[in-house]
Amino acid sequence: MKIVGTVAAMRGVSAGARRDGKRIGFVPTMGALHAGHCSLLRIARQAADFVAASIFVNPAQFGPDEDYTRYPSDAARDLALCRGEGVDCLFMPAVAEMYAPDRSVAVEETALSAGLCGAFRPGHFRGVLTVVAKLFNIVQPDVAVFGQKDAQQARLVQRMVRDLDFPVRVVIAPTVREPDGLAMSSRNAYLGPAERKRAACLSRSLRLAAKLHAAGERDTAAILGRMRESIAKGEPPVTIEYVAAVDWETLAPVARVERPTLFALAVRVGPARLIDNALVGGVTPEGRPPCRPTIPCHGDTTED
Ligand code: PAJ
Repeated sequence: MKIVGTVAAMRGVSAGARRDGKRIGFVPTMGALHAGHCSLLRIARQAADFVAASIFVNPAQFGPDEDYTRYPSDAARDLALCRGEGVDCLFMPAVAEMYAPDRSVAVEETALSAGLCGAFRPGHFRGVLTVVAKLFNIVQPDVAVFGQKDAQQARLVQRMVRDLDFPVRVVIAPTVREPDGLAMSSRNAYLGPAERKRAACLSRSLRLAAKLHAAGERDTAAILGRMRESIAKGEPPVTIEYVAAVDWETLAPVARVERPTLFALAVRVGPARLIDNALVGGVTPEGRPPCRPTIPCHGDTTED
């Protein structure tokens, strides 16, 4: 596995792979890797001949009161996991390599980013899209894999690729979960034992949404009410930031589940802000069944 830290070196590696006729798959990450990241690397491996990954804790996507300075990191473990997954090249730039001190251009999305996490984390998706655009320009992948765990982020990247004509296919991969349903996340490391147990309330409420839908309920207010009730039960107390039902395509709130609908939530459990989601209702535009909380949805949902 090649490890590179400069834009020029990464471009050189990608150019070499392309000269050899290889298709490049890419998985961007912020490190503190877990089984969710590994699943994306495997999907990239299946879709491409050469797998590049990046580890870069992107300061531009953290708010002033967020966890940038204490974001978990374990470089030795990350390298071992990447090697184990057969990553061909790992791009690990320093902040100064990625951002000029007088930078003045960013990527801003104005519709899909308005709600859900976008409403609570001002500037977050601007930071995400800007760094993903830069990484795409540096790595020049044919296919890039993102997790449904961060569904709004993945939809935004698809929208950016469509609207700015990046020659990249964006694949959305299923959420990998712990045995009790908790979506794997680098931020789960912030949870103490009682909080860790309590954190299963997110996926439990999503299973409830899928169950109510399967029983014929289509009124999202009714489903969201039941989800809120189920989250509120238990100790230690948790704080709901949002629980929402939005259209998968537009991410705009919907009153009834008539098309593929994303049930998404953000909940503060102790020191951790956790997010999760499930897609329910109808079939996706590609004709696949929607994913349910514990049943992965396979393959890509590329925006055309
Ligand atoms: P990070 O949180 O490290 O996540 C990297 C990728 O792993 C994202 O596409 C995310 O959705 C995916 N992922 C995280 N947990 C997952 C899980 N349990 N199952 C499946 N996939 C999972 O997301 C970011 O970093 C950053 O915003 C980034 C895109 C790298 C830009 O800085």
